[in-house]
Amino acid sequence: MANSLFVVFNNSLERCMDAGGFLAAFYRSFLAQDPEIAAKFGNTDFQKQVDVLKNSLIMILMMRTHGDVPEYAGMLETVAERHNRQNLDISPHLYVVWFETLLSTVEAFDPQYDDEVREAWKDVLRHGIKFMVERY
Ligand code: HEM
Repeated sequence: MANSLFVVFNNSLERCMDAGGFLAAFYRSFLAQDPEIAAKFGNTDFQKQVDVLKNSLIMILMMRTHGDVPEYAGMLETVAERHNRQNLDISPHLYVVWFETLLSTVEAFDPQYDDEVREAWKDVLRHGIKFMVERY
């Protein structure tokens, strides 16, 4: 990678955010993939949800680039616990759909999407998903 993972991912996330409606479009598409997913979000306030997802993407990026230190991993521990089998019960197969949907939303929203951007997103998202699934 010519640029650091941090810079490539962070700049892409900012371009997606600047394009407007990025995470709302992601959730629209994610919920449309599977009735099981839509059912999980039956009572969700999506205005709040897009903010918490944006924050957790940044935390995953920090963890990926600085290690699973408590400043970043702590917040994700709480998120992972909320998603585990005792709570929201988000089964590991749903993370595959989450990953694919987020990648295709980035492709649609980032005007500078290319191989380097795609690989940066894959790398960061895989790291976050591994963290969540290990705590299921
Ligand atoms: C690495 C992947 C994921 C991240 C970083 C993530 C992040 C988050 C965060 C930060 C929250 C808010 C937690 C809170 O308010 O306490 C949340 C809630 C939620 N997530 Fe995820 N999530 C991920 C994957 C998934 C997947 C695959 C599903 C599958 C359906 C899912 C379903 C939900 C649901 C149903 C809620 C609760 C919404 C509500 O409060 O009504 N998440 N997620």
